Amino acid sequence: MRKITIAIDGYSSTGKSTLARQLAHALGYVYIDSGAMYRAVTLFAQEHGLIGEQAEAAGLEARLPEIDLRFELNPATGRSEIVLNGRNVEKQIRSLEVSSQVSQVAALGPVREKLVALQRAMGNQGGVVMDGRDIGTVVLPGADLKIFMTASPEIRASRRYKELLDRGEKVSYEAVLHNVRERDYLDSNREISPLRKAPDAIELDNSDMGLKEQFERVHAHAERLIAK
Ligand code: DC
Repeated sequence: MRKITIAIDGYSSTGKSTLARQLAHALGYVYIDSGAMYRAVTLFAQEHGLIGEQAEAAGLEARLPEIDLRFELNPATGRSEIVLNGRNVEKQIRSLEVSSQVSQVAALGPVREKLVALQRAMGNQGGVVMDGRDIGTVVLPGADLKIFMTASPEIRASRRYKELLDRGEKVSYEAVLHNVRERDYLDSNREISPLRKAPDAIELDNSDMGLKEQFERVHAHAERLIAK
């Protein structure tokens, strides 16, 4: 059977990774979380004092060759998790501290060059679901199925707020909403590979859509393409 490539882009906290994981699981494909890669580079920069007071990344470019990123399967959860220089950092990269600086790091040309090359190498094998901001436009422009996800900022913030509380982080809803709005702005207005809907992507606004309905719609599209 034909193995297709699926690109899922959209605003932060629209549930891209949930949908991507469900699809990968249902189709027996590999899921690649490109945002985790930008988050891991941000964590590296923070841990090595490479982010200045104005959140500018100082000296990160020269240190990029030191960064090794991979994904490893966690047998307990069946999920693939990100490994930074041999250390599983899946939990650390989801903190609000990383979230609040990742957009600045993701706007840097040399960072994007390095990560896009890695993502293309991972994605070009087919049988892959990759989510991010520029997957359908830049990383895998030839993807067979492209989805662009949106939802209102308030709904996205309340979803992310619940997730962070569940993980035991002490944050306010207002701080999370501020972060969602700020990342929307930075991700959409950066010079290199800004967040854009690819002309051939299907737009999915899930403000009022349940996970099951969303999955069934996209899964049906994928099945049609696979059967072609
Ligand atoms: O999907 P996420 O929230 O984990 O992504 C974290 C940040 O990384 C997001 O604010 C923008 C950036 N990003 C990007 O620029 N390009 C991608 N393909 C994926 C994420």
